[in-house]
Amino acid sequence: VILVLAVVASLGVGAAAAVGKQDKFLAPVHPSCSTSGNYTDGSQFKKNLDELLAALPAAASRNDGFYIGTVGDSGSPDQVFTLIMCYADHDAAECLECLTGAPAGIMALCPGSRDVRAAYDACILRYSPVSPFASTADLEIPFYVKYTAPILVDPVAMARAWLPLMADLTGQAAGSLARAASGSTPYDASWRVFGLAQCTRNLNASECSRCLSSLVGKLPELFQNETGGAVKAYSCYVHYQIGPFEITLPPASEPPPQSSPKPGGQSLQVWEASSSSRTRLLIGSSIGTVSFLIILVGVLVCLLVRRRQKHPITANKQAKGQEPEDGKFSDGDDPAMEDDFEKGTGPKRFRYVELAIATDNFSDEKKLGEGGFGSVYRGYLKESNLEVAIKRVSKGSKQGKKEYASEVTIISRLRHRNLVQLIGWCHGGGELLLVYELMPKGSLDTHLYGGKNAAVLPWPVRHEIVLGLGSALLYLNQEWEQCVLHRDIKPSNIMLDASFAAKLGDFGLARLVDHGRGSHTTVLAGTMGYMDPECMTTGRTSAESDVYSFGVVLLEIACGRRPLAVAEEEQMAHLAQRVWASYGVGRVLDAADARLEGEFDAEEVERVMVVGLWCAHPDRSLRPSIRQAVGVLRREQPLPTLPERMPVATFLYVPLLV
Ligand SMILES: *[C@@H]1O[C@H](CO)[C@@H](O)[C@H](O)[C@H]1NC(C)=O
Ligand SMILES: *[C@@H]1O[C@H](CO)[C@@H](O)[C@H](O)[C@H]1NC(C)=O
Ligand SMILES: *[C@@H]1O[C@H](CO)[C@@H](O)[C@H](O)[C@H]1NC(C)=O
Repeated sequence: VILVLAVVASLGVGAAAAVGKQDKFLAPVHPSCSTSGNYTDGSQFKKNLDELLAALPAAASRNDGFYIGTVGDSGSPDQVFTLIMCYADHDAAECLECLTGAPAGIMALCPGSRDVRAAYDACILRYSPVSPFASTADLEIPFYVKYTAPILVDPVAMARAWLPLMADLTGQAAGSLARAASGSTPYDASWRVFGLAQCTRNLNASECSRCLSSLVGKLPELFQNETGGAVKAYSCYVHYQIGPFEITLPPASEPPPQSSPKPGGQSLQVWEASSSSRTRLLIGSSIGTVSFLIILVGVLVCLLVRRRQKHPITANKQAKGQEPEDGKFSDGDDPAMEDDFEKGTGPKRFRYVELAIATDNFSDEKKLGEGGFGSVYRGYLKESNLEVAIKRVSKGSKQGKKEYASEVTIISRLRHRNLVQLIGWCHGGGELLLVYELMPKGSLDTHLYGGKNAAVLPWPVRHEIVLGLGSALLYLNQEWEQCVLHRDIKPSNIMLDASFAAKLGDFGLARLVDHGRGSHTTVLAGTMGYMDPECMTTGRTSAESDVYSFGVVLLEIACGRRPLAVAEEEQMAHLAQRVWASYGVGRVLDAADARLEGEFDAEEVERVMVVGLWCAHPDRSLRPSIRQAVGVLRREQPLPTLPERMPVATFLYVPLLV
């Protein structure tokens, strides 16, 4: 039995949405693929397999997330069998998404394999020429998931709670027709532990029980200080955690777990809601796993780039709001793209030589700094008498090209006084350059953390920055024709003009989505500390993720501290946790930046901090919309009342690979 500890369960790469559903691409974690007797393209086996895989999503929804099927003449060597199952703590939509993306991913990772086992965050997919699927349990564990929350776990009390619970559920699941069971048991006076046990329904009761017992036996070594864990095997699945989680697939016979009685009704509610958002983190530990993942990611990137080059998307489609492509701005110019931008009064295309002159041929003296994917230079455009900042995207960086595309397609169409204005762009001659208005005061972080001798940014200036940033986000998320997700809101991306007005910049990670919908790129994007915990674990971003980062920045501005910093006395804690602790005892102002020496409007500071906490709520569904948050900041609406204790969250953990 090989144990692999994965970093991101939904690790996978969404291919360009515009190419269509077929191209959705979800990579399994540590798949197992046969390496001999491979089928060839065009063979009957391949045709049968394609037919079978194409039918999976529909088959699974008809069969409550479990299905065994076959295509091909019975007894022929080209007959293919498949088995799929959705893990019962994922809902039908996640299951469908998993089964829709799985075939392309597994085909890319194991081309030619006849016998394949693959596990994903939400589903299992197996296919094989051997019939029928062995009704013997397969005990191999492709991966497991650790759940953490900022509450102190007593491993002894924890084991006392979940060991009997899981043993009980093992028996119940094995004895039920759906081969699944859920339940709960008290952990301490306040909390309960909830559990789920599930087998594939081809197993008989004794095999199901054998499979689950084997996984339950692994729990003590896998999870020690966690608030919960899940182990995903090819034949069965166990999941337990403090606090309830949603179980939406069968068994329908079991009502979803009810929460335990809890002193102080308010925080009970929060527990339920926040646990249902299924926040979780997987922690990478062994070097082997880390390198496996790096290889996996590398393979995926290569595959994708190749796939994408086969399916070029026109610039028009991009402009309609699909994800920008990489690889298309390389050397050749794209006439459609130029068309899009050379119309109108917006940013214009520059010639390389103009920009080279403006920056003394990109001399070191003109360099303002190093950004994520390139350097930024100060330049002077003689013709228009403009001071500009020119970002030169690193040559040969795939991500850089992607970010360039994103900036040009998205930011060039936005106009708002609190957004850094793109003046123009230049691609050709192997260079990708972006030209922005110059921000004389640099970025917010240099002022917040300028060092001992730097001037302290006075509160009224900070407050204006807060309001400016809020209206920029309101515009991006709600007021513009499409919803723009910035996805990387942090002080180093908040620029300050000559009068210290905030202008949000760096749209390299931005995405356009239709209003009310999330983005399903599953590549992690963003910066630790500012990233929505849910986004780190599921890869899904939405307007709520930007609200989260906004909240963290508000706290930072009010407290003058970075979000993730090791305090003198204790271990790592997120800024939101510290501020929430002060808030809980009614002394939120204690957390205000000491360097301000009390020179501030206390009501304003409190408002900023409370809105910051509200936005940084671990549960997306309890965060305000950006409109509500801005309303409170502008004193148009009253302050919300938040629970005294910070609800469950996962960002205590710092995954190794983010
Ligand atoms: C069969 O396909 C797998 C990938 O699915 C590959 O690793 C293996 O080398 C192939 N075997 C042969 C004999 O071609
Ligand atoms: C259950 O299935 C296993 C494996 O196929 C078999 O060995 C065992 O006899 C079966 N048990 C019962 C009670 O049918
Ligand atoms: C769990 O926590 C205890 C106490 O903090 C510590 O001694 C122990 O090493 C931890 N175990 C693991 C596996 O991290």
